Amino acid sequence: MNKKVTVIGAGNVGATTAQRLVEKELCDVVLIDILDGIPQGKSLDLTEAAPIEKHDSHIIGTNDYEISKDSDIIIITAGIARKPGMSRDDLLATNTKIMTQVTKNVTKFSPDAIIIIVSNPLDAMCHVAFNASNFSKNKVIGMAGVLDSARFRAFISMELNVSVENIHAFVLGGHGDTMVPLPRYSTVSGIPITELISKEKINEIVKRTANGGAEIVSLLKSGSAFYAPASAAVEMAEAILKDKKKILPCAAYLKGEYGINDLFIGVPVKLGKNGIEEIIEIKLTDQEDSALKKSAAAVKSLVADLEKISL
Ligand code: APR
Repeated sequence: MNKKVTVIGAGNVGATTAQRLVEKELCDVVLIDILDGIPQGKSLDLTEAAPIEKHDSHIIGTNDYEISKDSDIIIITAGIARKPGMSRDDLLATNTKIMTQVTKNVTKFSPDAIIIIVSNPLDAMCHVAFNASNFSKNKVIGMAGVLDSARFRAFISMELNVSVENIHAFVLGGHGDTMVPLPRYSTVSGIPITELISKEKINEIVKRTANGGAEIVSLLKSGSAFYAPASAAVEMAEAILKDKKKILPCAAYLKGEYGINDLFIGVPVKLGKNGIEEIIEIKLTDQEDSALKKSAAAVKSLVADLEKISL
């Protein structure tokens, strides 16, 4: 029997995630949205592409959570984007309500699934899903670092004109302006980029990486990035479905690791069939450590705001 992944939110990120999952033939997919017709229409369209794309994965679109029963993985992309005139607090309140409702609906039918959160503000939404699901901490994982480090890798490849496949990059911290790219641990075929690129240029690339989401938003004018976010969510899902034990930067609930407690934040983790199977602690310089603590403080203040929201 094929593995089963439910993707919630059939918008840009959700539909592209569903497309990549079936086209890689990783699993069958259930695509859910609150809008009637959108998940059904997109799923039918993807089903009709299957003979040409040559895969036998099945995809079904629905508004009914019961169809998602016994999913192995749940990927949540539901939410709204910030609209003109909307404050950050309004966005937080709206997406918190959506995330709470969606998590409760879906976990009722798949109590043993692993949840990957994609909706923003990412680290705060992980807390909401963690609380609403009552799942253990290894089973709620945020997608941020894989995307941020992919952006970092793309920019390094553009700078050095080498294959993206040769490049590994590491990014820690929250998904936002305070993220902490680690040039020291970023390599081209094992060679640290600090040996290959000037300090000034690395700083430029680091800045562009931290600003990666905003750069796309300003080009698109309406909506935000979706191709790379979908790829990142699918890489995480693949590592879990195939029990690959792959080390990827993800938002994880920390209990003392890196000196941080009771907070979701981006760190390297080992992903396998049990979700987060290990949190990898790497030694940071004082400067890196203080950047991570600053990022954690920013996430903490957002999480504190969550408590003021009445559901
Ligand atoms: N239940 C299910 N689906 C919902 C709900 C809900 N309660 N509320 C909203 N949705 C759906 C919308 O109907 C829409 O189809 O979520 C989808 C969001 O899609 P888009 O607006 O296209 O947004 P997208 O670009 O996919 O981004 C989704 O991912 O990367 C993050 O910041 C991004 O938080 C955003 C999320």
